[in-house]
Amino acid sequence: MSLSLRSLCLGDGRPPHGVLLVVRRIAWPLAGGVTGLLIGGVPSIALAVPRPNWNPGPPWAPLTPHSSEMLQISHLFWVMLALSAIIFVGVTGAVLYSAFKFSAKPGDEGEPSQVYGDRRVEIAWTLVPFLILIVAFGFTVDYIHNINTPPSGSHPLNINAIGHQWWWEFDYPTLGVTTADEVHVPAGVPLHFHVQSYDVIHSFWVPELQRQIDANPGQDNAVFAEMSTPGTYDGMCYEYCGEAHAWMKFRLVVQTKRTFSDWIKHERTAAATPTTGLQKLGQRIFLHTTCVNCHAITGTSAGGAVGPNLTHLGSRWTVGAGAAPMTTSALEQWINDPNYFKPGVNMPPYPFMSQKQLRALAAYLISLK
Ligand code: CUA
Repeated sequence: MSLSLRSLCLGDGRPPHGVLLVVRRIAWPLAGGVTGLLIGGVPSIALAVPRPNWNPGPPWAPLTPHSSEMLQISHLFWVMLALSAIIFVGVTGAVLYSAFKFSAKPGDEGEPSQVYGDRRVEIAWTLVPFLILIVAFGFTVDYIHNINTPPSGSHPLNINAIGHQWWWEFDYPTLGVTTADEVHVPAGVPLHFHVQSYDVIHSFWVPELQRQIDANPGQDNAVFAEMSTPGTYDGMCYEYCGEAHAWMKFRLVVQTKRTFSDWIKHERTAAATPTTGLQKLGQRIFLHTTCVNCHAITGTSAGGAVGPNLTHLGSRWTVGAGAAPMTTSALEQWINDPNYFKPGVNMPPYPFMSQKQLRALAAYLISLK
């Protein structure tokens, strides 16, 4: 019996027996089943990890603008759609007209008349697309200029949006506030985002805010916007930037001017003092481990600047830039092994901590409202 790959796959016409029978009847279906389980099962296991709600806006978000700049982008879209519609109707109409008007009829003989070059037609089909492109070009340049022009007259609110592997830092340099993964802004106030990067190239985008923009190291890329409607809008990093790129989400919280100034006042206060025994223990552990090398908590001796500032962590939307919900149990699990929620994350695991230490740390961190 020759056991070639060909005979295994295709058979040789004879009924299978021996090793061949085992391979065909058992091994191959088994291999197929395992492959199927891997393809179908692994993603379901990954999805089984509880994830916080996140909705980056509908695909048509730029057509339901919530900022003055998005309104411009929306206008440009309609202009382009109108130009495309004119071309579509013109070309389809000409094709259909020719098909009906000039198709062969019973009794027609020989070849139809052949036309070799016609200066008027050639000028027409060069000039018409040229004019259409000129109009499209004019509108595009005008709108690009509009959305990239700083708002005149009023002083915009400056916000640094700094991409890190893999989270967003938000600084309000004139207001003395530093936070992460959640950027609050007032409605009806011109904003100037200074988009930068701490390490590699990221991309900053909230579909309802403005267009996408790259966050490059050593460069200050400007995004101007003025949000019209209070609400919560989701954004993320839109450029592959390493292993945990998918977990670089953030939230844009647009508030009324009054709510925003209350938020700023709160953010400027020092971190809450622990009240319960468990929280006090958590603070002691935090201040005496390597946590302080990366994280800052205002009002304590923790002043690390590599990881997110945790002064008001408990008031934020998630842990790990969208990776885990802000709950005590998720925080415990996060400290024990952040990779469970966010594969590739730069924060090291703390597997040597006891259950009690983890509980205390989580109780302390979530109390930092
Ligand atoms: Cu940062 Cu992708």
